[in-house]
Amino acid sequence: MKNDLQKVAELILNSESMIAFTGAGVSVESGIPPFRGPNGLWSKYDPKCLDLDFFYAEPEESWKAIKSIFYDFFGKAKYNKAHEILARWEERGVLKSIVTQNIDNLHQEAGSKSVFEFHGNSQKLICAACEQVFLPKEIDLEKLPPLCPNDKSILKPDFVFFGEGIPENAYRKSLLAAQSADVVLIIGTTGEVYPAASIPIEAKRNGATIVEINTEKSNYTDSITDFFLQGKAGEILGELEEIIIVKV
Ligand code: APR
Repeated sequence: MKNDLQKVAELILNSESMIAFTGAGVSVESGIPPFRGPNGLWSKYDPKCLDLDFFYAEPEESWKAIKSIFYDFFGKAKYNKAHEILARWEERGVLKSIVTQNIDNLHQEAGSKSVFEFHGNSQKLICAACEQVFLPKEIDLEKLPPLCPNDKSILKPDFVFFGEGIPENAYRKSLLAAQSADVVLIIGTTGEVYPAASIPIEAKRNGATIVEINTEKSNYTDSITDFFLQGKAGEILGELEEIIIVKV
């Protein structure tokens, strides 16, 4: 793997339009469990809580799971070394943007500016009727489902549910970034969920070199990945940064 790290460091240094495509694995070192795998969230909670039809049919049951997963747990997580390094590389002009599937806001909290949130963000609650937006801290989440202070309609987290469309702005910017990328760092994702999972494939189709950082193989590893750096995101990115600093 050592010489792969050297080759990838060279690739990163010589890239002109590198992007990162991140999934839940980049936040695992912040204490947020992934969705899939041995202790994944979907082994503890029924994914139907994120199904749009179920949410509106059974809002209280859906909100109980959503609160436990995304507000009790995520709320306390802090960004980790992987988020920090990606933010530093953006600041140095090495990384152009991040397409993330995550809704935990940790890339932004680590300082990343150009972040396209394919699945929205958990930091906003929106009224199903009047569409006014609230911050979670403005709403009492002890009473479920939370109701809009204006018209008592149900508040919905402003992230993408299964069966819901991708925010057009994020989709468009992610696709454009993929089409012009010369290197894509795929970090911490199974590549299970479409259309998000098509972003690295689109980049590959347009000639990008694919570097994958993951503790396990994913749907990309034996198909589009050119360099597979097996390990934890924070550790691998840390090793790459050490080599890059020496070379600049
Ligand atoms: N460093 C790098 N990768 C890791 C780490 C780590 N420390 N820990 C786990 N991983 C990897 C796992 O091997 C797995 O491939 O992160 C990936 C997590 O996969 P998923 O839980 O499927 O998360 P993700 O791919 O982001 O899911 C996509 O599914 O449920 C929906 O909307 C949800 O955005 C999510 C989408």
